[in-house]
Amino acid sequence: DRPEEMITRAPVVTVMGHVDHGKTSLLDTIRKTRVATGEAGGITQHIGAYSVEMDGGRITFLDTPGHEAFTAMRSRGAKVTDIVILVVAADDGVMPQTVEAINHAKAAEVPIIVAVNKIDKPGADPDRVKRELSDKGVVAEDWGGDTIFTHVSAKENIGIDTLLEMVLLQTEVLDLKANPDKKALGHVVEAKLDTGRGPVATVLIQEGTLRTGDAVVCGIHHGKIRAMINDQGAPISEAGPSIPVEILGLSGVPGAGDELFALKDEKDARQVSTHRSQKQRAKELAKTSRMS
Ligand code: GTP
Ligand code: NA
Ligand code: MG
Repeated sequence: DRPEEMITRAPVVTVMGHVDHGKTSLLDTIRKTRVATGEAGGITQHIGAYSVEMDGGRITFLDTPGHEAFTAMRSRGAKVTDIVILVVAADDGVMPQTVEAINHAKAAEVPIIVAVNKIDKPGADPDRVKRELSDKGVVAEDWGGDTIFTHVSAKENIGIDTLLEMVLLQTEVLDLKANPDKKALGHVVEAKLDTGRGPVATVLIQEGTLRTGDAVVCGIHHGKIRAMINDQGAPISEAGPSIPVEILGLSGVPGAGDELFALKDEKDARQVSTHRSQKQRAKELAKTSRMS
């Protein structure tokens, strides 16, 4: 890609942390308070990802159970996350899944921003969290490390703006770029079979621009993009880098972490997906015959 074709793209953020430390609450508070609701009754359709538009830029959140999405993507070799927000409850401290999340982020070489959550609680002890994370190699800037620490209450909506500002600050350092002027490439965040609409997939576009009418290959499936819906439930006709979008028109339900790419025509797409599903079937047959 020529440098002049590259544009700055939004960071993609995954929220991780121990059970009940407040991941869902944090994502809910951000969505409810920072996403402008569409005009159509203000009912926001939930898709597995959403974007917030801040003064300093846009941020895309993967709104799926962090570990699952992250692990599914990583096991398929996909790098979709730019920043991990590590949620640690201030009254509970570092727990096994906190450590797991740190290991995931480190293995993927994704920077961590710590959100010490539940600071509204009487038993909150943010200094203890800082010490415990330090022992795990996640060291705050004022302790000589390079990790940004923030104090938040997802429940009381405290410190969230600062957290988002820190995400944008980290984004500047990462200098994220993508080329919107080519055929789209992205990854499935989640997918399901919808009774009325058929296979529905939430896809995060990473390179290029996806448009309605595009022929695509997605995992072992193919299709022609029949419709696209954004994170607010509104129909859209194109989606560029770092934009999450729900797509209709696939021949089957792909898996989380599956790659999606657009190509010239539907015949090519069908050929690639047929080839892929044949290969997968052959692999499964080989496995079955080895076991018997
Ligand atoms: P899992 O998805 O089950 O791992 O949990 P989670 O990390 O998504 O936590 P969740 O958001 O479900 O919050 C767990 C509990 O903590 C809920 O009862 C929340 O209301 C509560 N909680 C979350 N954030 C805060 C907070 O900032 N302050 C207080 N006091 N409670 C909170
Ligand atoms: Na919970
Ligand atoms: Mg949750």
